[in-house]
Amino acid sequence: MAKDVIIALDFPDRTTTLKFLDQFQEEKPYVKIGMELYYAEGPQMVREIKARGHKIFLDLKLHDIPNTVSGAVRSIRGLGVDMMNLHAGGGIAMMKAAADALKDTDGVPPQLIAVTILTSLNQEALENEVWVNRKVEDAVLHYAGNAKVAGLDGVVCSPLEAGKVHERLGCDFLTVTPGVRFASNDTGDQQRVTTPKKANELGSDYIVVGRPITKAEDAVMAYRRCMNEFLNI
Ligand code: C5P
Repeated sequence: MAKDVIIALDFPDRTTTLKFLDQFQEEKPYVKIGMELYYAEGPQMVREIKARGHKIFLDLKLHDIPNTVSGAVRSIRGLGVDMMNLHAGGGIAMMKAAADALKDTDGVPPQLIAVTILTSLNQEALENEVWVNRKVEDAVLHYAGNAKVAGLDGVVCSPLEAGKVHERLGCDFLTVTPGVRFASNDTGDQQRVTTPKKANELGSDYIVVGRPITKAEDAVMAYRRCMNEFLNI
């Protein structure tokens, strides 16, 4: 299975985003467009980055009743993104509605993955704030199982959970993992973190890396370091 590093374009607007992408002359990184940029610039931003030749993970984390999510997926599917996601916490019917809505995509449908437990949540927050009285790892595996039942392609989870997800749900079930830091970085608001090298060893298929690349003094070098460590080259 193809492994890759996905850069999280957590920027406020088009100008900042394109300035960042212009630094990459030799490579076309796989990028993630999340809520911050999408809500500021809309679908045109997705089309523009796609036209520049990047693969795109549209990270809007859909979570609503099945009918509404189905409609959202129908709106998104014409954009030609390569990956998109929703919250597994919306339940199996919601995830199935999304998967069904992708069946009528012209061309190759995007990979549809589910967010399990946000990597910013630790055990204490899961129990005392979200009121899920389970171990983080068990909750992740349960949500991942639901996503598979609903016909999704994989999950977003911590690299620390990738091995268990593959063990239980198969090697073809994708693990897309944020919460990646170079050994020397601050963790920021991420609680369950690991290095690109370790994420590879733990079985992540894709790592999503934001600040360690976007806030680096030399973003291209940071991206290359990430690719080298993750792909073991
Ligand atoms: O800057 P950093 O590397 O922490 O960015 C991680 C990216 O992955 C952010 O865009 C964040 O929204 C996203 N993400 C996450 N945890 C999830 C799902 C997505 O951190 N469970």
